[in-house]
Amino acid sequence: MLLNIANKEYFPTILRKGIYRFKEMRSNKKRREIINWCEKNCEDILIFAKSLNIDLWNEAQRFEKKLKKHANSILSSLNVNLGGGSYCSLIYFLIRLKKPKTIVETGVAAGFSTQTILSAIKKNGHGFLYSSDFPYFRIKDPEKYIGCIVDQKLKDNWKLYIKGDKRNIQEIMRKIDKVDFLHYDSDKSYSGRKYIFNILKSKLNADSILMMDDIHDNAFFKNYTEKNEILFRIFKYNNKFLGLIGI
Ligand SMILES: C[S@@+](CC[C@H](N)C(=O)[O-])C[C@H]1O[C@@H](n2cnc3c(N)ncnc32)[C@H](O)[C@@H]1O
Repeated sequence: MLLNIANKEYFPTILRKGIYRFKEMRSNKKRREIINWCEKNCEDILIFAKSLNIDLWNEAQRFEKKLKKHANSILSSLNVNLGGGSYCSLIYFLIRLKKPKTIVETGVAAGFSTQTILSAIKKNGHGFLYSSDFPYFRIKDPEKYIGCIVDQKLKDNWKLYIKGDKRNIQEIMRKIDKVDFLHYDSDKSYSGRKYIFNILKSKLNADSILMMDDIHDNAFFKNYTEKNEILFRIFKYNNKFLGLIGI
């Protein structure tokens, strides 16, 4: 861990994350209010999926089952905790449904969402994924675990950046004209989300789909949708809330 912190490539991001966390600890009492707002606006996923395409939703459910088995077979032999995955059946469903061309995700870790997006891209027959991550600095040699469950044969449609969102997204921005689908699952602080959304906004348009994990952590998603008068949906998964814009 100390070696990772001392790494001059990683130190600025580690320091920034520590400062954000400290500053935002004071606003924790507001968390209950945000959770209530999420609960109030939360929708039933099955009603949503049925209204769009139930066959695709069933395909997504089957995919998620296979994904969990596949991930387990790799992760069970590693002696590190890389955390769980996102709402992968929903990600798969939306990408199969909307067939976006340019996809950006923040937060890779073991790669549940990455494997999901790349599998849906393969099935669609088109699409490219740009992923932004930052190594888990609490573990030894963290770089080697990033995306460790991602199939080699899916990697042709993928570019991974691991210098932290702040630097990665600037690099990704130079490569793309627009973002058709964004899955945000990295730095969950208010300032981290705000920073990345401000940078990306010139690449978003009315058709872009945005999905954000753990929106109950702070008021970012609530304030963002209210301030910009954007229609949104909220779903609950594993006792956490995720926000969806654009569909
Ligand atoms: C919850 S995990 C992502 C899980 C992943 N989406 C999945 O489905 O398997 C969050 C990831 O975001 C990364 N992260 C945290 N802060 C970051 C930052 N400032 N820039 C880029 N990645 C960051 C963490 O290191 C971790 O790999």
